[in-house]
Amino acid sequence: MPIEIEKLNFIYAKDMPFEYTALKDIDLKLQDNKFYALIGKTGSGKSTLIQHLNALLIGSSGKIKVNNFEIYTDKKNKNLKNLRKEVGVVFQFSEQQLFEETVLKDVMFGPLNFKVSESEAKAKAIKYLKLVGIDEKLFEKSPFELSGGQKRKVAIAGILALEPQILVLDEPTAGLDPESAKEILEIFFSLNKTIILVTHDFDLVYSYADEVIFLDNGNLITKRETVDFFTDDELISKYQLELPSLLNFQNKLSEKGFSFTKKHKNLKDLIKEVIYE
Ligand SMILES: Nc1ncnc2c1ncn2[C@@H]1O[C@H](COP(=O)(O)OP(=O)(O)OP(=O)(O)O)[C@@H](O)[C@H]1O
Ligand SMILES: [Mg+2]
Repeated sequence: MPIEIEKLNFIYAKDMPFEYTALKDIDLKLQDNKFYALIGKTGSGKSTLIQHLNALLIGSSGKIKVNNFEIYTDKKNKNLKNLRKEVGVVFQFSEQQLFEETVLKDVMFGPLNFKVSESEAKAKAIKYLKLVGIDEKLFEKSPFELSGGQKRKVAIAGILALEPQILVLDEPTAGLDPESAKEILEIFFSLNKTIILVTHDFDLVYSYADEVIFLDNGNLITKRETVDFFTDDELISKYQLELPSLLNFQNKLSEKGFSFTKKHKNLKDLIKEVIYE
């Protein structure tokens, strides 16, 4: 059980006039090597929640365990650096955090910070830059000369180069063209790690996520298997959620008399069943 959150509360600007409770009594248990989608309206607390997973934010009360680390809300935490090696967080607008002279140096920064040798850090940087699809010609350029999408990919390579066990991604594909978004998602999907993906794109959620974690107004409403979540009509209508387009399409086909053995998570399988039935 890599992540266990118990009764986590978080208050911004505590004891100030604008105090705001952003997370309310969150209980959550996540398993190894699963792909989780964290969804919820803007302002529901998604970014706030994930920042607790590597102790960038510390709860006002409650408990968090990540593998063997316990993050305390009531006393000083030690060994946060080790925790941050296990939990890699790609922040929302991560491209704004690039700062080194060259692309290569930017990606090497993380591993070097964790006391990896220069040559090993370079090897890791090259490996992960290539993996995210950054051309070698760009390695010696300044990150500031890159396009928005390329910058995002460099920032992602920077986190992958730390080889964390748990990867947390806050809207990593927002603003990328659909092709790049798909490429990046496929990479995450192939890594065989515990992944927590924050996104507003329900089509991505539906095709990639094993389970959905749904926040509303700082409350954890449910954590559920993806198809189960999107086929809970009561929940979908209560929170006025859009259905993923593939599920919508399958429902329309069902209305027209097609019958299916299951809800399909990709178009190919859906078409196969329509053609070969
Ligand atoms: N530094 C801050 N000070 C005070 N309130 C904050 C701060 N950061 C976030 N909040 C508030 O906490 C709530 C949750 O914010 P959070 O950024 O976690 O939402 P989110 O679900 O990530 O939204 P989005 O989908 O827009 O990224 C919001 O109401 C927000 O206004
Ligand atoms: Mg956010």
